[in-house]
Amino acid sequence: MKLFDVYPINPINIVKGVGSLVYDDKGTEYLDLYGGHAVISIGHTHPHYVKRLEDQLHRIGFYSNSVEIPLQKQLAEKLGQVSGYEDYQLFLCNSGAEANENALKLASFHNGKRKVIAFHKSFHGRTSLAVAATDNPKIVAPVNETDNVIFLPWNDEAALEQAFEASEISSVIIEGIQGVGGINVAAESFLQKIRTLCDQHDAVFIADSVQCGYGRTGKFFSQDFAGVKADIYSMAKGMGNGFPIGGIIISPKIQPSYGMLGTTFGGNHLACAAGLAVLEVIEQDNLMQNASEVGEYLIAELKKFDQVKEVRGRGLMIGIDLPQELAHVRKELLFKHHIFTGESKPNVVRLLPALNLTKTHADRFLEAFSTVLNYQLT
Ligand SMILES: Cc1ncc(COP(=O)(O)O)c(C=O)c1O
Repeated sequence: MKLFDVYPINPINIVKGVGSLVYDDKGTEYLDLYGGHAVISIGHTHPHYVKRLEDQLHRIGFYSNSVEIPLQKQLAEKLGQVSGYEDYQLFLCNSGAEANENALKLASFHNGKRKVIAFHKSFHGRTSLAVAATDNPKIVAPVNETDNVIFLPWNDEAALEQAFEASEISSVIIEGIQGVGGINVAAESFLQKIRTLCDQHDAVFIADSVQCGYGRTGKFFSQDFAGVKADIYSMAKGMGNGFPIGGIIISPKIQPSYGMLGTTFGGNHLACAAGLAVLEVIEQDNLMQNASEVGEYLIAELKKFDQVKEVRGRGLMIGIDLPQELAHVRKELLFKHHIFTGESKPNVVRLLPALNLTKTHADRFLEAFSTVLNYQLT
């Protein structure tokens, strides 16, 4: 059997990882500023994470949601404590798309309405409603097409007000910082406007924090910078440091009922052990503060390069917008300097490293980046 060929892959076989470094099958070392797509939050093979998963696996890896799983309650408690959302409720699932699917569905159950506001260049996942709220027609299959989603321009308060006047809105879904869309930061006033309009019109504010959340920006959720709370936050990527786990946290004003949401794998013992290990390390090692400090340093240094069009982002979620003539920078970084980065089309280099990235590793990147830019210009 062959693999279904949907990924344009680099010819590199990563077999080992430690912290922000990974190694291929030939022993070549790479600096990982991509974090396997914003997933590696506490570094590869963190000893506390490995031990917690290993210990759990020796006890029990999985049992269904038909029995008590105390680890779920421990995870909810820890998440409440680390995020500061202690009065919210946690529903666990397995991925970012699923988290958003559940968030959108829950909003509609809650207020009985249908219409969803999403934004240009948004990415919310590939399941039916999540993909319908994603602004990329290429990944929306005919069966997913719906007129329930209204796409509005980014950071446009007037358009938002008009949409609320024109339709009965069930929910607004927004990434605090668009990832796939090119590292675009939502204006604080825009997030505040969403809060006000959702309150006025009994709509649900959904903060997609799958990529920009979990401490990456220096605050637990990037939307926190606006000083307003969303009703539902979706999360996944950094939550399990590679173990598939996702979830939504839900405001106390939204009431659950039996059967409303559900999943086979979500919240299993191993997933919870992974989730707990991540939060324990984030807390013990002050990783949000590190993300903020090393991120600020990187952003300030990157802004010094004249050839860069714009540097966007917060903490360790950084987009380096390059002109067309520097479109090959990412490939050069990978194949000449052995540094993994992410990309957003057309020419944004995305940095999504582990939250414990050291300044030394940040400097290693800056030196390589400088070499590549200078080489490109001569
Ligand atoms: C903002 C955002 N939401 C949702 C998703 C979907 O997550 P998953 O691939 O885990 O389904 C992603 C994935 O890149 C994302 O960046």
